[in-house]
Amino acid sequence: MLHRSLEQARVGLSGALASAESGADRLRAAARWIFAEPNRCFPGEHWTVRCTRKSFADGPVAGHRECVLIRRETPADIETIRDAHASAFAASGAVPAEAGLVDALRADDAWLPELSLVAVEGAAVIGHVVCSRAHVDAVPVLALGPMGVLSERQRAGVGSALMHTVLGAADALAEPLVALLGHTAYYPRFGFRPSAEYGIAPPDPQWGSHFQVRTLTAYEPTMRGQFAYAAPFDEL
Ligand SMILES: CC(C)(COP(=O)(O)OP(=O)(O)OC[C@H]1O[C@@H](n2cnc3c(N)ncnc32)[C@H](O)[C@@H]1OP(=O)(O)O)[C@@H](O)C(=O)NCCC(=O)NCCS
Repeated sequence: MLHRSLEQARVGLSGALASAESGADRLRAAARWIFAEPNRCFPGEHWTVRCTRKSFADGPVAGHRECVLIRRETPADIETIRDAHASAFAASGAVPAEAGLVDALRADDAWLPELSLVAVEGAAVIGHVVCSRAHVDAVPVLALGPMGVLSERQRAGVGSALMHTVLGAADALAEPLVALLGHTAYYPRFGFRPSAEYGIAPPDPQWGSHFQVRTLTAYEPTMRGQFAYAAPFDEL
């Protein structure tokens, strides 16, 4: 069954490419063939069509944007990460101290390079999130933040993509929980709950339900007590 489907796909695609002359024509012809039928896909493969459909199938489109990918930061990203937070937090009305906070965390023992992720579009960094080492009493846990998306790219799903990716990475690293200070209308959609529900006290009691916790697979209900951020947060 699998073999027959692949053979059908190969024949169909060869036919679609037969009249294409240049490499670009071949790419467009292939995309037209793939997208001609809704949800056409090959067994065992996943096609992410939402972002690429227009550009490949119809040629260059004015204002078109490439796919947004999430990956770990590299040294080449450091300056653009700073710019992304400056833009994100300036737009939110806050004093954009977060750009400096990322730099301070990077120089601290609390820095976890596996959990500093960028959203990139082509070569451009358009968003960033980081989790750093924190503690609930003596138990090592994660603090999430800052997270920022370029002001002109907000409300397009980039923040959600960063959040889902960093939570998945933290879970894969067997971290027990992630805590953050943030809006109660936004973070519950990612599974965050007020920290008090888990018996975890925020660094400042006045933060109340804005201090939220997302538990991961390695979480144990015995992980209760006082939450402490890494030292660079104290300088904010
Ligand atoms: C918060 C932030 C990272 C979210 O990224 P994003 O790419 O805009 O988010 P998404 O597009 O995935 O999600 C958009 C949704 O988030 C909601 N949202 C975004 N920021 C919000 C906030 N501060 N409070 C409440 N809701 C918020 C939007 O209303 C929207 O909701 P909807 O889908 O119901 O319309 C981004 O808006 C940002 O950089 N803000 C400034 C910096 C900041 O406040 N960072 C978080 C604290 S560390």
